[in-house]
Amino acid sequence: MATHGNGRDPRLLPEPQGAYAHVVGWGMAVPSQVLTNQDLAAIVETSDEWIRTRTGVSERRIAASHESTASLGLRAARNALEVANILPLELDLIVVATSTPDNVFPSTASLIQDQLGATRAGAFDLSAACAGFVYALNMAAQSIRSGSIESAIVIGAETMSRIIDWRDRGTCVLFGDGAGAVVLKASESDGGIRSAVLRSDGSGRDLLILPAMASPESQQPGAAPVGARLDKLQMNGREVYRFATRIVGESISQALEKAQLDIADLALVVPHQANFRIIEAAARNLGVSPDIFVSNLERYGNTSAASIPIALCEAIDAGRIEEGDHIAFCGFGGGLAWASMVLTWTGRETGEPRPLGRQRRQLTYARAGWRRRVRDWERQMDDLVSSLHPRRGRLRRLRRRFERQRLE
Ligand code: COA
Repeated sequence: MATHGNGRDPRLLPEPQGAYAHVVGWGMAVPSQVLTNQDLAAIVETSDEWIRTRTGVSERRIAASHESTASLGLRAARNALEVANILPLELDLIVVATSTPDNVFPSTASLIQDQLGATRAGAFDLSAACAGFVYALNMAAQSIRSGSIESAIVIGAETMSRIIDWRDRGTCVLFGDGAGAVVLKASESDGGIRSAVLRSDGSGRDLLILPAMASPESQQPGAAPVGARLDKLQMNGREVYRFATRIVGESISQALEKAQLDIADLALVVPHQANFRIIEAAARNLGVSPDIFVSNLERYGNTSAASIPIALCEAIDAGRIEEGDHIAFCGFGGGLAWASMVLTWTGRETGEPRPLGRQRRQLTYARAGWRRRVRDWERQMDDLVSSLHPRRGRLRRLRRRFERQRLE
């Protein structure tokens, strides 16, 4: 590997300074339905004691049939915009980190963009499994630092319950559903995201894998034995555990080096919530107390890309983060992929007050819903007219397109 004259890995040198990307808003959303370990013991051969002592999980949230990754992500995003007190129209970018999108395409980010009424934002999904949130946050932060955009919302959202094989006790006890979001904004003041180190090792591709999207054949009851359904998550728990305990401490150290900080400078670490034993091992490797690691595994299990922003929101609510604190995130999982980030917390913006922010956001959401319904209705009418008078339908469509372009 190429090194600089002083022998340091050039990828761990401090990043060039442009605008700073500050976290100015945060929000989370979890389904209300709770599935306890006792509930699971009625479905598969397991026990509350086994799950708690091996993983630290006591219960998890499960999406109801009317909920989806997009609907949970939308709720988290609205809460984050509330804290940031910015309007959806001010957003330049929406990134959703997820392994359980509502569709292969359109992206879940596009669905959320529409429902937020963020009509000036670009939107895309990012796939890096449980490391996805840190990857996505870094992509958005880099866009801000380069001057290409001024604000972004980054969402981690999952409905893991939809890709779990509920007959496989080795995986179904671990995961849960939820979403978290943060708003990033450009600022001239020092602070915000300082460094990130992203890594991947695709040679571990089969250790944690969702091979394919749902196929009608694989949905048939009894179509495949446990662990063989291609549309369900498959995991080699022992190997993933070994990988995670090895890389978490190392990855955080690399992000600290890049930020020119030391482990003693960290007030808090918000790790991906996979297993309390992984957190304990990371604390041991770093030579720090596990107390500086946030853990809410007990209540939510592993919510994949959503776990870090959910844990962040709860840490803020619990008063565990103060202005000026250096904090670290570390995500790891399928890919294998992992990523750590160091940031300096500046919290809520104290700039110009924005009068009637909440009312204006509510109005934007209502207008977005209304716009969607009008568009649907227009298309249905066009189809109807086309089927009755093919030539008139085409003419009307052309006229509408022309009018829309004139308005935009
Ligand atoms: N309830 C009861 N017994 C279970 C069980 C469950 N839910 N799941 C597995 N077992 C059994 C196994 O069948 C095995 O039985 P055997 O010894 O008779 O074969 C025994 O428990 C030990 O299994 P093992 O896989 O060695 O357990 P473990 O101590 O490694 O813990 C995990 C299993 C999954 C908790 C652990 O490997 C882990 O946390 N891995 C990382 C997973 C992870 O974090 N994935 C997401 C990363 S993003």
